[in-house]
Amino acid sequence: MNSHLRNEYLAAMGIRQWVLRESAAPAEVSPEVDTTQPVTDAPVGSPDWPALQAQVAGCTRCALHATRTQTVFGTGNRSADWLVIGEAPGADEDRQGEPFVGRAGQLLTEMLRAAGPGREAVYITNILKCHPPNNRDPQSDEVASCHSYLERQIELVKPRLILAVGRIAAHNLLQTDTPVGRLRGRVHHYGPAGIPLVVTYHPAYLLRSPLEKRKSWDDLQLALQISNGQ
Ligand code: URA
Repeated sequence: MNSHLRNEYLAAMGIRQWVLRESAAPAEVSPEVDTTQPVTDAPVGSPDWPALQAQVAGCTRCALHATRTQTVFGTGNRSADWLVIGEAPGADEDRQGEPFVGRAGQLLTEMLRAAGPGREAVYITNILKCHPPNNRDPQSDEVASCHSYLERQIELVKPRLILAVGRIAAHNLLQTDTPVGRLRGRVHHYGPAGIPLVVTYHPAYLLRSPLEKRKSWDDLQLALQISNGQ
């Protein structure tokens, strides 16, 4: 590995002044929601991008629709080589309607710039299209409800590589509960098409554990090799 490049990458991401602060934002309150409504993971059919985006925008398949500000569909290059899949929108993403725009998102953008193809070259979405209150983990019914939207996004992008960012994305895409530390560093395959899939740490985790950034550099280098056909 080129140590100069790596140092640049670490400098870009090491960002010592990025000290975690206690959030001043008040805890979000989960309003009463009707959990008796039917949850569906029905296929979405074969909509094109605008039709799929409209379906997601109007989705009421799970209870999260009652607490979201808006859905967060995905963003980026719809013909990308890389499809980056995170967990779920956070509070910033819920407000802005775009994935990975908060502090973790800024670090992901740095990672993609320094060790990957750049944020503008990839398509980014999440396992869930709605923000779970208080950033709690997605529930299995919510993941099931959202699954066909993600499947259709994967069909439409036809990526050469999926980068699963963090535990929730990795576990749901690979149907495993193996820790991320043991899933990263090698190539998996997703779905009937066997799309190469690389797991890396979630940038929110890297903000808390900066020493792990070296490993995320290696993961992105591995992903680059695969998407370049090496
Ligand atoms: N974390 C995620 O996993 N996705 C986002 O969009 C933002 C934060």
